[in-house]
Amino acid sequence: MPRLFRAPGRINLIGEHTDYNQGWVLPAAIDLAAWAAFVPRPGRRIEIRSAQYKDCAVFDLDEEPVRPERRHWSDDLRGVARLLRRAGVELMGCSIMLDSEVPIGAGLSSSAAVTVAVAYGLLATSSASLGLTELALLCQRASHEFSGAKCGVMDFYIACHGRAGELAMLDTRSLEARWLPWPAKASLVVCDTKVRHDNATSEYNLRREQCERAARQLGLPSLRDAGAGDFARLEPLLAARVRHVVSENQRVVDAAAAIERVDYGALGELLNASHRSLRDDYQVSCAELDCMVELCRERPGVYGARMMGGGFGGCALALVAPECVAAMRRQVARDYTEATGLQPSIWECHAAGGVGEMEEKDVAH
Ligand code: GLA
Repeated sequence: MPRLFRAPGRINLIGEHTDYNQGWVLPAAIDLAAWAAFVPRPGRRIEIRSAQYKDCAVFDLDEEPVRPERRHWSDDLRGVARLLRRAGVELMGCSIMLDSEVPIGAGLSSSAAVTVAVAYGLLATSSASLGLTELALLCQRASHEFSGAKCGVMDFYIACHGRAGELAMLDTRSLEARWLPWPAKASLVVCDTKVRHDNATSEYNLRREQCERAARQLGLPSLRDAGAGDFARLEPLLAARVRHVVSENQRVVDAAAAIERVDYGALGELLNASHRSLRDDYQVSCAELDCMVELCRERPGVYGARMMGGGFGGCALALVAPECVAAMRRQVARDYTEATGLQPSIWECHAAGGVGEMEEKDVAH
């Protein structure tokens, strides 16, 4: 009987491009997940198949992985196996079958979900364990070292720690989270533009470099410590990047307060301001995301909307009065198709739990 592990995708209510600047984020794990089924096999080989890709990845646990010239979907998974071994975990040969409900490249952290499911499964099937935050950091390191995506910790953290019905206000400097209730009387609606941009990783790494350069020029350990007065000392491009990070951190703090006061009007305005800042100062939006956000905001019952995740395509997120969701979904889909020729996916999401093993009774269904 295979052992089956599940790790969720995520949304991020607000706090975009702040996690690699030691700032705040406000994500939740969602009810779309990646699955990894493990069957032990004799020897030292790991074989990974995925329902999403045609080719199989095979590697020997004792071989140091060479960084491939062309990117492969299994890079981070090999990386995770390597880092676990480096940490002293005795891994066994196994066959792993992957499947995922999280759309790839949509800004919902499909790759973090798969990486966390596999890392957790490798640990569990070797009868080893690691704290969930250490696991998240190990997965992040695998991404940095093996696929070259210099992402922050948010996606891995929430795939590991997610809680049903809650959002995490995460301080990415201390890695401490304050858990907030999922909005009880408003719906979070994900709007997938269906645009996938190839240059997203290189632009992402470039933004990170710009932030690091700005922090160095300001003599600060990270932009977490920057304040409004610091913009003027930088060249215009870096000043705009810093303005986004500083204002976005404040918006996360304000959004958490708005959730606690159940003030969806204020929360919606913060989402709108976040989008403007990501579009104009951080320049990580694209025409289709801007179009989707505008169309959402035109609908009755929409408190606010913004692009979500790394950007350059993927999903927008809207905060909507529950009684208006059905009409909003229909009309926005129609208008978006008319404007762009693309067929979007628009659905209401819910907060789910983090990584775990499925019990036999769940697997049978
Ligand atoms: C991607 C990264 C995250 C985060 C977001 C932007 O999802 O993986 O670490 O930086 O982009 O907020």
